[in-house]
Amino acid sequence: MPVPVSPENRISELRSIIEVHNRAYYEQDQPTVPDAEWDALMRELKELEAQHPDLVTPDSPTQRVGAAPSTLFAPVVHAVPMMSLDNAFDKDELAGWAERLGRRLGEGVDPGAWVCELKFDGLAISVRYENGVLVQAATRGDGRTGEDVTHNVRTIADIPNEIPHAPEVLEVRGEVYLRLSAFADLNQRQVEAGLKAYVNPRNAAAGSLRQKDSRVTATRNLSFWSYQLGQVVGGSAISGHYDTLQYLKSLGMPVNEHARQVTNGVDGVLAYVEEFERRRHDLDYEFDGIVVKLDDLGLQRQLGATAKAPRWAIAYKLPPEEQITTLRDIEISIGGGGSATPFAQLEPVFVGGVTVTTATLHNQDQVAAKDVRPGDKVIVRRAGEVIPEVVGPVLSERDPNSVPWVFPTNCPVCDTALVRPEGEARHRCPNIDCPRQVRGRIEHFAQRNAMDIEHLGESSIDLFVSHGLLGDVGDIYHLDYEAVHAFEGYGETSVTNLAAAIEASKSRPLGNLIFGLSIPHVGSTNGEVLAKAFGHMDALIAASLDDLQAVDGLGPIIAASVHGYFSQPRHLEIIDKLRRGGVNFEGPEVPDIPQTLAGMAVVVTGTLENYSRDSAADAIKSRGGKNPGSVSKKTTAVVVGASPGASKLTKAEEAGVPILDEAGFEHLLNTGELPA
Ligand code: IVH
Repeated sequence: MPVPVSPENRISELRSIIEVHNRAYYEQDQPTVPDAEWDALMRELKELEAQHPDLVTPDSPTQRVGAAPSTLFAPVVHAVPMMSLDNAFDKDELAGWAERLGRRLGEGVDPGAWVCELKFDGLAISVRYENGVLVQAATRGDGRTGEDVTHNVRTIADIPNEIPHAPEVLEVRGEVYLRLSAFADLNQRQVEAGLKAYVNPRNAAAGSLRQKDSRVTATRNLSFWSYQLGQVVGGSAISGHYDTLQYLKSLGMPVNEHARQVTNGVDGVLAYVEEFERRRHDLDYEFDGIVVKLDDLGLQRQLGATAKAPRWAIAYKLPPEEQITTLRDIEISIGGGGSATPFAQLEPVFVGGVTVTTATLHNQDQVAAKDVRPGDKVIVRRAGEVIPEVVGPVLSERDPNSVPWVFPTNCPVCDTALVRPEGEARHRCPNIDCPRQVRGRIEHFAQRNAMDIEHLGESSIDLFVSHGLLGDVGDIYHLDYEAVHAFEGYGETSVTNLAAAIEASKSRPLGNLIFGLSIPHVGSTNGEVLAKAFGHMDALIAASLDDLQAVDGLGPIIAASVHGYFSQPRHLEIIDKLRRGGVNFEGPEVPDIPQTLAGMAVVVTGTLENYSRDSAADAIKSRGGKNPGSVSKKTTAVVVGASPGASKLTKAEEAGVPILDEAGFEHLLNTGELPA
C-alpha cells in the first residue's frame, strides 16, 4: 500500500518540481511540461497552502512571479512591480471571482465597466521612456527585478524608439510575441540551418528576445501589444483602464483591436469569452486566455493586490492545446502511392478538444530532428482543426537506457525493402503489388471525383483485396459477384446495389478515368486536360513524350509521368481489363472550329460589347491563336473596347501593331485576315 504523504512533504515536493519547471521555462525558454501540467501542479500547491496557511513561505512559487533573472543580462529593478494574474479555469470560477470582488468593494458599490482583453501568449516586458526617448526595456523576471533587454527591444518594429509629447517618465507594459506567420518562417529557417525548431510561438518569442546579440533578435520579426502603464511622471490623470488603452494608442503604441469595454456586467464578460473561444484560431497570433480587468482605476487601487497578483483582474484560461502523454511506439503507414510515413502511437490523451491516439511524424528527418523515442513522455499539441502533432520529448523524464529510433528497412505490409529516393524526404515501398498500395489505388479510383462508385467503400475494398477478388482497378469490372454474395453482410440487395454502381461508373467522363488511374502527379484537372487534348484513351496511350509536352497546361514532369505510366506492360494490362469491362474511353466532343488564327497573337484591352474577357480569350484560343497579356512587336493585332489600358494602346502605336474595334475583331476571327 502506498504510504500517505504528509502535506508538508507534498508541499515541499511540489515546490521543487515547480522550481525545476520554472527554471526551464523562464531561463532556458525550453519548457519541460505543457502549461496545463504546470497549472495543475500550482493549483495543488495553492490548495494545500490554503488548507495549511502555516506552511506558506515567502519563497514558495505561489508567492513569487516567474523566476529570478538570469545572469546573462544586467538586472533592472522595476519602478512599479510587474505582477502576475490569478487564473479562472471555468466560467463558474470567473463568475465567483466577480462576485467576491463585488463583495470586497462593499454593498451598494457598482463595479462599473469591465475591460476584456486577449491573454497573449508571449512574454511581458516593461519599456521605459524618459522625455519621449526609449531608455530601457526589461523582462518581468521575478516581478521585482527583470533583465535588461533594451538593445533587443530596440529592434522590434512595433515599439517606437521615440514618443513625441510623452510625459517625463512613461513605462509602457505589454507582451512581446511572434505572429504565427513569423513563427513558421523562423522555424523553417532554423531547420534549414540545421538548428532545432522552436516548440511554440511563445518559446520562440522568449528565445528571440533573450539573445545576447541583438542582430539575431532583429531577424526574428517580433511583435508587441501594449496593455498597461507602469511608472508615469508628469502625465495627465486617467481614470479608467480603457482610457489607458486609448492613451497608449494615441502615443503610437500598438494596442490590440479586440480589447473591449463591457458595460453589461458578468454576462457581457461571458459573451466576450465565448466569442473568443470560437475565434481562437482565426487570428495570426496565439492567445491562451481572456484577461478581465475592472475598468475604474480608483476601484482598482481600492482593491489592491495580493503578493502576486492584482485583485481587480483575472485570467480566464482557455483549454490547453498541449498535453503530455506517452509515446507507445513509432509505426509506419503505407499510403496508396507507396509513401512510407512514420506516425506516433500515443497513450490516449485529451487535447485541443479531442482524444488523440495517433499523430503523424512526417518523415525520417523529422523524427531525427525531434529525437522522439518509443517510451518517451512527449508533448502533444493540437490547435483548432489542425491535425495533432508531437512537439517533442520531455527530456527530463527519458529513460536513460533509451536509444534513438531507427527507420525500418522493410515495408510493414509486404516486407519489400523500402527506398528513399535521392533528394526526397520520404521513404517509399517500391512494390506496386503491395496490398496496401493496391487498396489505396482502388479507393482512389472509386472516390467521388474519379469513378464515383457508390457502394465500393474502404471496408469492401479491404475485404475483396484480402480475398484476392481485386488485384487492380481493372478487376472491378470483372468482379465475381457470387463470391461477394458468399461474404457475411453481402445480401442480395447490397450485391445488386454494388453491381449497379459499378455499371453506372462505366460511363464516367474520360477525365475522371484518367485521374482515377493514380498516375503520379495527375490530379483531376490534369485528367480533364489530357481527356480534352487526346479525345480517346487509345490516343493518350499512343502519345509520344513530345505530344504530351505540347499539351497546353501540362508541365514536363507530368508529361514524363504520363508517358512512363503507359510504357509499363502491367498498366496496359489494367487498361485492357477496363476496355473489356466496357468502361468509356471516349473523351469530350471537341467542336471542329476552323483554325483561322493559327500562329497569331491577339491582345484584347478594354470592355467589349459581345464578349467578356474570358469569352474573347476562348474565341481566340479555340481558333488556334494566342491571347497574351501584353503588347510586343510580335502581336498581330490589339482589339480595343471601352476604357482600354493606356499602356497597351501606346505600345501598340509605338510598335506599329494594327488596332481593331469589335467589328474588326469579328472579321479577324471569321476570316483570319485583318480588315482592310
Ligand atoms: S495584464 C497586473 N493583460 O499574462 C496585470 N497581462 O499571468 C498585469 N498577459 O505577465 C498583466 N496578455 O505576460 C495583462 N492582455 C493582457 C495580457 C497579459 C498576456 C500576460 C502577461 C502577464 C501574464 C500574467
